[in-house]
Amino acid sequence: MRNVNQDNLTEVFLGYLGDDVNPRLREVMGSLVTHLHAFAKDVNLTHDEWEQGISFLERTGEISDANRHEFVLLSDVLGLSSLVDMINSRSEGTSSSVLGPFHISGAPALEIGGDMKGDFPGPVLVAEGVVKDVQGNPIEGATVDIWQTAPNGLYSSQDPEQDTYSFHGLQTTGADGRYAFTSVKPVEYTVPTDGPVGDILNACGRHPWRPSHLHFIVKADGYRSLVTEVFPDDDPYLDQDTVFGVREDLVMHYEPMAAGTFPEGFALSGQVDEEYIRIQFDLTLVSG
Ligand code: BEZ
Ligand code: FE
Repeated sequence: MRNVNQDNLTEVFLGYLGDDVNPRLREVMGSLVTHLHAFAKDVNLTHDEWEQGISFLERTGEISDANRHEFVLLSDVLGLSSLVDMINSRSEGTSSSVLGPFHISGAPALEIGGDMKGDFPGPVLVAEGVVKDVQGNPIEGATVDIWQTAPNGLYSSQDPEQDTYSFHGLQTTGADGRYAFTSVKPVEYTVPTDGPVGDILNACGRHPWRPSHLHFIVKADGYRSLVTEVFPDDDPYLDQDTVFGVREDLVMHYEPMAAGTFPEGFALSGQVDEEYIRIQFDLTLVSG
């Protein structure tokens, strides 16, 4: 086609797709490019603006490496990660939420009742719950991959002062489906703002804060894997998470516990004399 113009360009593009192209790729690429063309026309995109867009994407690539996932962050702050989550989630189980750019695989095994706090300062958190199916039956042999920030608001992969796997642990449930660990009370933190995504947040007059949370990836044979996070009900950023991760069923309550009441069955049992906080949060998997 040589007489390409504003009105037929999208159609011409669609016509260039090969006859034997994978049908799903045809659907996804076709729709993506159709929307891109419509967007450019809608805003009358100028050369300068599109150059800025290209330069933004180049900087996003340049700053990315094995530990810095700027494109994931971009998808998160645009709400696309959460939208994909919502499109693919099932209503019966615990809601999924964003994975974020800071998960690292290979977390060390953490015994049931094990401790992730170590010598870090801050209030002791006792967290426990049951991995169960939608009928409420406990799931044996489920793995619960847990991670959170240190009290300075940084994940270990962002912080040279931390060990690789600090505040990361992998628990495997027994017949009662229970996971249980101690840690430090999570803090709210900002997503990284020293790169192009930070520039976009700033230019759009948006703050970079996330409410405090604990991350979980729960896997069990015969069930859909669950990537999620839980948030305390008193967090100031609960209603303004910059990556849109909060869901009603992921909000939990910290029970303030008096000194001298620390429970048995934890690595820290007998060692905590002060006040602490406790949460109980069950994780429900959908079969599939
Ligand atoms: C996180 O919770 O680790 C996270 C999620 C999205 C963007 C940045 C961080
Ligand atoms: Fe996080």
